[in-house]
Amino acid sequence: MRAAMCRSHGAPEAVTVEDIPDPVPGPDEVRVSVAAAAVNFPDVLLVANEYQVHVPVPFVVGSELAGRVDEVGTNVRELRVGDRVFGATMVGAFAEKAVVHAAGLSRTPDGVDDASAAAFGVAHRTAYHALRSVASVQSGDEVIVLGAGGGVGLAAVQVATVLGASVTAIASSDEKLDVAKACGATRTVQPRAGELRAQLREVLPEGADVVLDPVGGDVAEPALRALRWGGRFVTVGYASGEIPRIPLNLVLLKGVTILGYDARSFMTHDPERAQRDERELMDLLAAGDLKPHIGARFTLDDTPAALRYVADRRAIGKVVIDVRPPVTPR
Ligand SMILES: NC(=O)c1ccc[n+]([C@@H]2O[C@H](COP(=O)([O-])OP(=O)(O)OC[C@H]3O[C@@H](n4cnc5c(N)ncnc54)[C@H](OP(=O)(O)O)[C@@H]3O)[C@@H](O)[C@H]2O)c1
Repeated sequence: MRAAMCRSHGAPEAVTVEDIPDPVPGPDEVRVSVAAAAVNFPDVLLVANEYQVHVPVPFVVGSELAGRVDEVGTNVRELRVGDRVFGATMVGAFAEKAVVHAAGLSRTPDGVDDASAAAFGVAHRTAYHALRSVASVQSGDEVIVLGAGGGVGLAAVQVATVLGASVTAIASSDEKLDVAKACGATRTVQPRAGELRAQLREVLPEGADVVLDPVGGDVAEPALRALRWGGRFVTVGYASGEIPRIPLNLVLLKGVTILGYDARSFMTHDPERAQRDERELMDLLAAGDLKPHIGARFTLDDTPAALRYVADRRAIGKVVIDVRPPVTPR
Protein backbone atom coordinates (compact mmCIF):
# COMPACT_ATOMS: atom_id res chain seq x y z
CA MET A 1 0.00 0.00 0.00
CA ARG A 2 0.97 3.68 -0.38
CA ALA A 3 1.65 5.48 2.88
CA ALA A 4 3.13 8.79 4.11
CA MET A 5 6.17 7.78 6.19
CA CYS A 6 8.13 9.75 8.73
CA ARG A 7 11.58 8.08 8.75
CA SER A 8 13.37 10.95 10.48
CA HIS A 9 11.83 13.70 12.60
CA GLY A 10 11.85 17.17 11.08
CA ALA A 11 9.96 19.54 8.80
CA PRO A 12 6.89 18.39 6.78
CA GLU A 13 9.24 17.82 3.83
CA ALA A 14 10.88 14.99 5.84
CA VAL A 15 7.76 12.90 5.10
CA THR A 16 8.01 10.55 2.09
CA VAL A 17 5.14 8.73 0.36
CA GLU A 18 6.17 5.13 -0.35
CA ASP A 19 4.98 1.54 -0.89
CA ILE A 20 5.01 -0.48 2.33
CA PRO A 21 3.33 -3.77 3.40
CA ASP A 22 -0.35 -3.59 4.50
CA PRO A 23 -0.73 -3.40 8.31
CA VAL A 24 -2.35 -6.37 10.09
CA PRO A 25 -5.04 -5.72 12.75
CA GLY A 26 -4.57 -7.10 16.28
CA PRO A 27 -7.46 -8.82 18.16
CA ASP A 28 -9.18 -5.54 19.22
CA GLU A 29 -8.36 -3.64 16.05
CA VAL A 30 -9.93 -2.98 12.67
CA ARG A 31 -8.22 -2.37 9.35
CA VAL A 32 -9.79 0.47 7.39
CA SER A 33 -9.49 0.96 3.66
CA VAL A 34 -8.98 4.73 3.88
CA ALA A 35 -10.93 6.98 1.52
CA ALA A 36 -10.08 10.34 3.10
CA ALA A 37 -7.92 11.60 5.94
CA ALA A 38 -7.71 14.99 7.64
CA VAL A 39 -4.67 16.91 8.84
CA ASN A 40 -4.42 18.11 12.44
CA PHE A 41 -1.88 20.54 13.85
CA PRO A 42 -0.41 17.79 16.12
CA ASP A 43 0.50 15.76 12.98
CA VAL A 44 2.99 18.52 12.16
CA LEU A 45 4.27 18.50 15.75
CA LEU A 46 4.63 14.68 15.82
CA VAL A 47 6.72 14.78 12.61
CA ALA A 48 8.87 17.52 14.18
CA ASN A 49 9.09 15.51 17.47
CA GLU A 50 7.69 18.57 19.26
CA TYR A 51 4.38 17.09 20.48
CA GLN A 52 3.64 16.18 24.09
CA VAL A 53 3.66 12.50 22.99
CA HIS A 54 6.82 11.25 21.24
CA VAL A 55 6.47 8.65 18.51
CA PRO A 56 9.72 6.91 17.50
CA VAL A 57 10.54 6.77 13.77
CA PRO A 58 9.68 5.19 11.44
CA PHE A 59 5.90 5.71 11.55
CA VAL A 60 3.05 6.38 9.14
CA VAL A 61 1.79 9.94 9.70
CA GLY A 62 -1.87 10.90 10.20
CA SER A 63 -4.40 10.83 13.02
CA GLU A 64 -7.86 11.16 11.47
CA LEU A 65 -9.55 9.12 8.73
CA ALA A 66 -12.71 7.79 7.11
CA GLY A 67 -13.30 4.78 4.88
CA ARG A 68 -14.61 1.21 4.91
CA VAL A 69 -13.78 -1.65 7.25
CA ASP A 70 -11.45 -4.00 5.38
CA GLU A 71 -10.65 -6.59 8.06
CA VAL A 72 -11.64 -7.04 11.74
CA GLY A 73 -9.64 -8.46 14.66
CA THR A 74 -10.84 -11.64 16.35
CA ASN A 75 -12.36 -9.82 19.39
CA VAL A 76 -14.25 -7.18 17.39
CA ARG A 77 -18.02 -7.75 17.38
CA GLU A 78 -19.51 -4.31 16.71
CA LEU A 79 -18.07 -3.74 13.22
CA ARG A 80 -18.08 -5.82 10.02
CA VAL A 81 -16.16 -5.80 6.76
CA GLY A 82 -17.71 -3.16 4.47
CA ASP A 83 -19.05 -0.85 7.24
CA ARG A 84 -18.43 2.86 6.59
CA VAL A 85 -16.49 4.32 9.54
CA PHE A 86 -14.54 7.36 10.66
CA GLY A 87 -12.27 7.94 13.60
CA ALA A 88 -9.02 8.98 15.16
CA THR A 89 -5.72 7.34 16.02
CA MET A 90 -2.30 8.69 17.05
CA VAL A 91 -0.55 7.83 13.76
CA GLY A 92 -1.16 5.73 10.63
CA ALA A 93 -4.05 7.52 8.90
CA PHE A 94 -2.25 8.91 5.81
CA ALA A 95 -2.17 5.56 4.03
CA GLU A 96 -4.36 3.40 1.81
CA LYS A 97 -4.95 1.08 4.78
CA ALA A 98 -4.85 1.94 8.47
CA VAL A 99 -5.19 -0.17 11.59
CA VAL A 100 -7.26 1.51 14.32
CA HIS A 101 -8.53 0.31 17.72
CA ALA A 102 -12.21 -0.58 17.20
CA ALA A 103 -13.20 1.74 20.07
CA GLY A 104 -11.69 4.68 18.14
CA LEU A 105 -14.15 4.30 15.26
CA SER A 106 -17.71 5.54 14.73
CA ARG A 107 -20.12 4.62 11.95
CA THR A 108 -20.37 7.23 9.21
CA PRO A 109 -24.03 8.34 8.99
CA ASP A 110 -25.78 7.81 5.63
CA GLY A 111 -25.52 10.89 3.46
CA VAL A 112 -22.24 12.09 5.03
CA ASP A 113 -19.33 11.95 2.56
CA ASP A 114 -15.93 10.50 3.54
CA ALA A 115 -14.09 13.85 3.49
CA SER A 116 -16.62 15.41 5.88
CA ALA A 117 -16.52 12.34 8.14
CA ALA A 118 -12.69 12.37 8.22
CA ALA A 119 -12.67 16.08 9.03
CA PHE A 120 -15.33 15.89 11.75
CA GLY A 121 -13.97 13.82 14.62
CA VAL A 122 -11.12 15.68 16.27
CA ALA A 123 -12.11 19.33 15.75
CA HIS A 124 -15.85 19.02 16.36
CA ARG A 125 -15.46 16.65 19.32
CA THR A 126 -12.94 19.04 20.88
CA ALA A 127 -15.20 22.03 20.30
CA TYR A 128 -18.33 20.23 21.49
CA HIS A 129 -16.90 18.72 24.69
CA ALA A 130 -15.12 21.98 25.54
CA LEU A 131 -18.15 24.23 24.98
CA ARG A 132 -21.06 21.95 25.92
CA SER A 133 -19.58 20.06 28.88
CA VAL A 134 -16.54 21.99 30.14
CA ALA A 135 -17.75 25.58 29.66
CA SER A 136 -21.48 24.72 29.99
CA VAL A 137 -22.42 27.16 27.21
CA GLN A 138 -26.07 28.20 27.44
CA SER A 139 -28.37 29.69 24.85
CA GLY A 140 -27.81 33.47 24.78
CA ASP A 141 -24.20 33.31 26.03
CA GLU A 142 -21.55 35.53 24.43
CA VAL A 143 -18.67 33.30 23.32
CA ILE A 144 -15.25 34.49 22.08
CA VAL A 145 -13.45 31.98 19.84
CA LEU A 146 -9.71 32.48 19.32
CA GLY A 147 -8.05 30.97 16.22
CA ALA A 148 -11.54 30.99 14.71
CA GLY A 149 -10.29 30.20 11.20
CA GLY A 150 -8.51 27.00 12.29
CA GLY A 151 -9.87 23.47 12.57
CA VAL A 152 -10.89 23.60 16.23
CA GLY A 153 -11.76 27.30 16.10
CA LEU A 154 -14.12 27.06 13.15
CA ALA A 155 -15.74 23.96 14.63
CA ALA A 156 -16.19 25.96 17.87
CA VAL A 157 -17.89 28.78 15.95
CA GLN A 158 -20.36 26.23 14.52
CA VAL A 159 -20.89 24.42 17.84
CA ALA A 160 -21.40 27.59 19.89
CA THR A 161 -23.92 28.78 17.29
CA VAL A 162 -25.80 25.45 17.42
CA LEU A 163 -25.87 25.76 21.25
CA GLY A 164 -27.62 29.12 20.83
CA ALA A 165 -24.68 31.36 21.73
CA SER A 166 -23.62 34.56 20.01
CA VAL A 167 -20.04 34.22 18.70
CA THR A 168 -17.22 36.73 18.39
CA ALA A 169 -14.58 35.22 16.09
CA ILE A 170 -10.91 36.24 16.37
CA ALA A 171 -8.61 35.41 13.44
CA SER A 172 -5.63 36.86 11.60
CA SER A 173 -7.09 37.47 8.12
CA ASP A 174 -10.25 38.72 6.41
CA GLU A 175 -10.44 35.42 4.55
CA LYS A 176 -10.56 33.42 7.81
CA LEU A 177 -13.08 35.84 9.35
CA ASP A 178 -15.36 35.66 6.28
CA VAL A 179 -15.54 31.87 6.66
CA ALA A 180 -16.14 32.24 10.43
CA LYS A 181 -19.06 34.57 9.64
CA ALA A 182 -20.47 32.06 7.14
CA CYS A 183 -20.22 29.43 9.91
CA GLY A 184 -22.32 31.54 12.29
CA ALA A 185 -20.11 34.20 13.94
CA THR A 186 -22.01 37.41 14.63
CA ARG A 187 -18.93 39.59 15.25
CA THR A 188 -15.38 39.34 13.94
CA VAL A 189 -12.12 40.85 15.16
CA GLN A 190 -8.72 40.81 13.46
CA PRO A 191 -6.24 41.49 16.29
CA ARG A 192 -3.92 44.44 15.90
CA ALA A 193 -0.64 44.16 17.86
CA GLY A 194 -1.23 45.04 21.52
CA GLU A 195 -4.80 46.20 20.90
CA LEU A 196 -6.95 43.09 21.18
CA ARG A 197 -8.31 44.05 24.63
CA ALA A 198 -9.47 47.47 23.34
CA GLN A 199 -10.91 45.91 20.17
CA LEU A 200 -12.90 43.43 22.27
CA ARG A 201 -14.12 46.15 24.63
CA GLU A 202 -15.48 47.97 21.59
CA VAL A 203 -17.45 45.03 20.18
CA LEU A 204 -18.42 43.49 23.55
CA PRO A 205 -18.87 46.39 25.99
CA GLU A 206 -20.73 44.13 28.46
CA GLY A 207 -18.03 41.43 28.26
CA ALA A 208 -18.25 37.78 27.24
CA ASP A 209 -19.41 34.67 29.11
CA VAL A 210 -16.94 32.20 27.61
CA VAL A 211 -13.57 32.21 25.81
CA LEU A 212 -12.46 29.13 23.84
CA ASP A 213 -8.69 29.23 23.27
CA PRO A 214 -6.86 26.78 20.96
CA VAL A 215 -4.04 29.30 20.30
CA GLY A 216 -2.43 30.53 23.55
CA GLY A 217 0.42 33.01 23.19
CA ASP A 218 -0.29 36.72 23.37
CA VAL A 219 -4.02 36.58 22.50
CA ALA A 220 -5.01 34.56 25.60
CA GLU A 221 -4.72 37.26 28.28
CA PRO A 222 -6.57 40.05 26.43
CA ALA A 223 -9.35 37.58 25.66
CA LEU A 224 -9.56 36.57 29.33
CA ARG A 225 -9.72 40.25 30.28
CA ALA A 226 -12.73 40.56 27.97
CA LEU A 227 -14.76 38.16 30.16
CA ARG A 228 -17.50 39.60 32.34
CA TRP A 229 -17.64 38.76 36.07
CA GLY A 230 -18.11 34.99 36.51
CA GLY A 231 -17.03 34.15 32.94
CA ARG A 232 -15.30 30.89 31.89
CA PHE A 233 -12.02 30.60 29.97
CA VAL A 234 -11.32 27.19 28.37
CA THR A 235 -7.78 26.40 27.25
CA VAL A 236 -7.64 23.62 24.60
CA GLY A 237 -4.29 24.11 22.82
CA TYR A 238 -1.27 26.23 22.01
CA ALA A 239 -1.07 26.54 18.23
CA SER A 240 1.03 29.71 18.70
CA GLY A 241 3.75 27.55 20.24
CA GLU A 242 3.54 29.53 23.49
CA ILE A 243 1.78 28.47 26.69
CA PRO A 244 0.34 31.69 28.19
CA ARG A 245 0.96 32.68 31.81
CA ILE A 246 -2.12 34.33 33.30
CA PRO A 247 -1.75 36.73 36.29
CA LEU A 248 -3.93 35.21 39.05
CA ASN A 249 -5.11 38.63 40.23
CA LEU A 250 -7.31 38.69 37.10
CA VAL A 251 -9.07 35.56 38.36
CA LEU A 252 -9.53 37.16 41.77
CA LEU A 253 -10.77 40.51 40.51
CA LYS A 254 -13.06 39.23 37.76
CA GLY A 255 -14.35 36.10 39.51
CA VAL A 256 -13.62 34.09 36.36
CA THR A 257 -12.99 30.35 36.10
CA ILE A 258 -10.11 28.95 34.06
CA LEU A 259 -10.86 25.47 32.71
CA GLY A 260 -8.97 22.99 30.55
CA TYR A 261 -10.01 20.36 28.04
CA ASP A 262 -7.86 17.41 26.98
CA ALA A 263 -9.52 14.70 24.89
CA ARG A 264 -7.86 11.70 26.56
CA SER A 265 -8.40 12.80 30.17
CA PHE A 266 -11.99 13.91 29.46
CA MET A 267 -12.96 10.48 28.04
CA THR A 268 -11.27 8.74 30.99
CA HIS A 269 -12.51 10.95 33.82
CA ASP A 270 -15.92 12.03 32.57
CA PRO A 271 -17.26 9.08 30.53
CA GLU A 272 -20.94 9.92 31.14
CA ARG A 273 -20.78 13.40 29.69
CA ALA A 274 -18.41 12.17 26.97
CA GLN A 275 -21.02 9.58 25.88
CA ARG A 276 -23.90 12.06 26.07
CA ASP A 277 -21.92 14.53 23.93
CA GLU A 278 -21.08 11.77 21.45
CA ARG A 279 -24.76 10.88 20.97
CA GLU A 280 -25.68 14.54 20.47
CA LEU A 281 -22.76 15.09 18.08
CA MET A 282 -23.67 12.11 15.91
CA ASP A 283 -27.26 13.38 15.66
CA LEU A 284 -26.02 16.85 14.66
CA LEU A 285 -23.66 15.35 12.05
CA ALA A 286 -26.34 13.05 10.61
CA ALA A 287 -28.86 15.91 10.44
CA GLY A 288 -26.35 18.16 8.65
CA ASP A 289 -26.49 20.73 11.48
CA LEU A 290 -22.72 20.42 11.90
CA LYS A 291 -20.60 20.07 8.77
CA PRO A 292 -16.85 20.68 8.74
CA HIS A 293 -15.58 23.46 6.52
CA ILE A 294 -12.93 21.94 4.24
CA GLY A 295 -10.58 24.72 3.18
CA ALA A 296 -8.11 22.72 1.09
CA ARG A 297 -7.70 19.21 -0.37
CA PHE A 298 -4.55 17.30 -1.32
CA THR A 299 -3.74 13.84 -2.71
CA LEU A 300 -1.87 11.23 -0.64
CA ASP A 301 1.28 11.86 -2.72
CA ASP A 302 1.06 15.54 -1.71
CA THR A 303 0.99 14.81 2.04
CA PRO A 304 4.16 16.87 2.76
CA ALA A 305 2.50 19.88 1.06
CA ALA A 306 -0.67 19.34 3.14
CA LEU A 307 1.39 19.32 6.37
CA ARG A 308 3.31 22.41 5.21
CA TYR A 309 0.00 24.18 4.50
CA VAL A 310 -1.15 23.60 8.10
CA ALA A 311 2.28 24.41 9.58
CA ASP A 312 2.33 27.74 7.71
CA ARG A 313 -1.00 28.81 9.29
CA ARG A 314 -2.72 28.85 5.90
CA ALA A 315 -5.45 26.32 6.68
CA ILE A 316 -9.02 27.57 6.94
CA GLY A 317 -11.12 24.96 8.73
CA LYS A 318 -9.91 21.47 7.88
CA VAL A 319 -7.36 20.25 5.35
CA VAL A 320 -8.30 16.91 3.76
CA ILE A 321 -6.14 14.31 2.03
CA ASP A 322 -8.16 12.38 -0.58
CA VAL A 323 -6.50 8.98 -0.27
CA ARG A 324 -8.88 7.59 -2.91
CA PRO A 325 -10.78 9.71 -5.45
CA PRO A 326 -13.91 11.08 -3.73
CA VAL A 327 -17.23 9.29 -4.42
CA THR A 328 -20.74 10.49 -3.60
CA PRO A 329 -22.20 8.39 -0.75
CA ARG A 330 -25.38 6.37 -1.34
N1 LIG B 1 -7.09 19.62 23.99
C1 LIG B 1 -7.35 18.74 23.05
O1 LIG B 1 -7.80 17.62 23.31
C2 LIG B 1 -7.10 19.15 21.62
C3 LIG B 1 -7.77 18.53 20.58
C4 LIG B 1 -7.54 18.98 19.28
C5 LIG B 1 -6.61 20.01 19.05
N2 LIG B 1 -5.97 20.57 20.11
C6 LIG B 1 -4.99 21.65 19.92
O2 LIG B 1 -5.67 22.80 19.46
C7 LIG B 1 -4.76 23.60 18.73
C8 LIG B 1 -5.41 24.05 17.44
O3 LIG B 1 -5.63 22.94 16.61
P1 LIG B 1 -6.26 23.15 15.16
O4 LIG B 1 -6.44 21.80 14.58
O5 LIG B 1 -7.40 24.08 15.25
O6 LIG B 1 -5.05 23.89 14.42
P2 LIG B 1 -5.13 24.81 13.11
O7 LIG B 1 -6.25 24.38 12.24
O8 LIG B 1 -3.76 24.81 12.56
O9 LIG B 1 -5.52 26.25 13.69
C9 LIG B 1 -4.71 26.88 14.65
C10 LIG B 1 -4.93 28.40 14.57
O10 LIG B 1 -4.00 28.96 15.50
C11 LIG B 1 -3.59 30.24 15.04
N3 LIG B 1 -2.15 30.43 15.19
C12 LIG B 1 -1.57 31.42 15.88
N4 LIG B 1 -0.24 31.32 15.86
C13 LIG B 1 0.04 30.24 15.11
C14 LIG B 1 1.25 29.62 14.70
N5 LIG B 1 2.44 30.11 15.08
N6 LIG B 1 1.19 28.52 13.93
C15 LIG B 1 0.00 28.00 13.58
N7 LIG B 1 -1.21 28.54 13.94
C16 LIG B 1 -1.17 29.66 14.70
C17 LIG B 1 -4.01 30.34 13.58
O11 LIG B 1 -5.03 31.29 13.53
P3 LIG B 1 -4.73 32.81 13.15
O12 LIG B 1 -3.87 32.78 11.91
O13 LIG B 1 -6.08 33.36 12.92
O14 LIG B 1 -4.04 33.38 14.35
C18 LIG B 1 -4.61 28.98 13.23
O15 LIG B 1 -5.77 29.12 12.43
C19 LIG B 1 -3.48 22.77 18.54
O16 LIG B 1 -2.53 23.22 19.46
C20 LIG B 1 -3.94 21.37 18.87
O17 LIG B 1 -2.87 20.60 19.38
C21 LIG B 1 -6.19 20.17 21.38
